[in-house]
Amino acid sequence: MLAWQVDCGVDEAIAEGPVDRFDRVPVAVPEVRTEVRAEVADAEPSVVRIASACGDLAALRAALAAFEGCALKRGAKNLVFADGHPGARVMIVGEAPGRDEDLAGLPFVGRSGQLLDLMLAAVGLSRGAEEAAAAVYITNVLPWRPPANRDPTREEVAMMRPFLMRHIELVAPEVLVVMGNAAARAVLGTPVGITQLRGVWAEAEGVAVLPMFHPAALLRDGLKKREAWADLLALRARLDAGAS
Ligand code: URA
Repeated sequence: MLAWQVDCGVDEAIAEGPVDRFDRVPVAVPEVRTEVRAEVADAEPSVVRIASACGDLAALRAALAAFEGCALKRGAKNLVFADGHPGARVMIVGEAPGRDEDLAGLPFVGRSGQLLDLMLAAVGLSRGAEEAAAAVYITNVLPWRPPANRDPTREEVAMMRPFLMRHIELVAPEVLVVMGNAAARAVLGTPVGITQLRGVWAEAEGVAVLPMFHPAALLRDGLKKREAWADLLALRARLDAGAS
């Protein structure tokens, strides 16, 4: 049985002992509308209501912790809500937690996160900065790790998007940096890939949005670092122009 699970892609145990899931009360999962074919499917009204009722970040975090509508939660060790300064001028949106983030309960702490921290430091920004002007706030499209780090599905993104959009509204950053395809698509609602979108300023919910390559893409293909550097300089220039 173990060998079969390994063949299926299982790469870690998530509990100390076996769980008889047939013995459990089924959880009511809101129905996802599968007929919607736009890049971002319609949000589930009940989820929009839950997210919009959150008056601050603590309430949003609590609502996510209590939310049972996304099956990813059941395979994750921790909710990965956010890191950094909630008053930061810059908010960064990544895709979803990986193994390291799932264990730590914090976004971008693995290899991609280490590269992200170096990239931010190169333009005078840091998630640990105490002054809002030099700080960033970081979150992901999905707050739970997809199994084996697979790409998020359209249904998962549609289900969780109201929480993401409320998160952005509550932080109200001056600039939103969306990293990679999943974040750009979720925030901008476009099917266009990140290679075309990157470096071109866009807007979502009245906030300036800069699409960039995901740090994981930079780790896979070092040639992309040149464009990422140009985008970081564009971010710095926009912040400097806004501050003067
Ligand atoms: N990749 C992401 O998009 N987010 C994380 O938190 C870690 C890796």
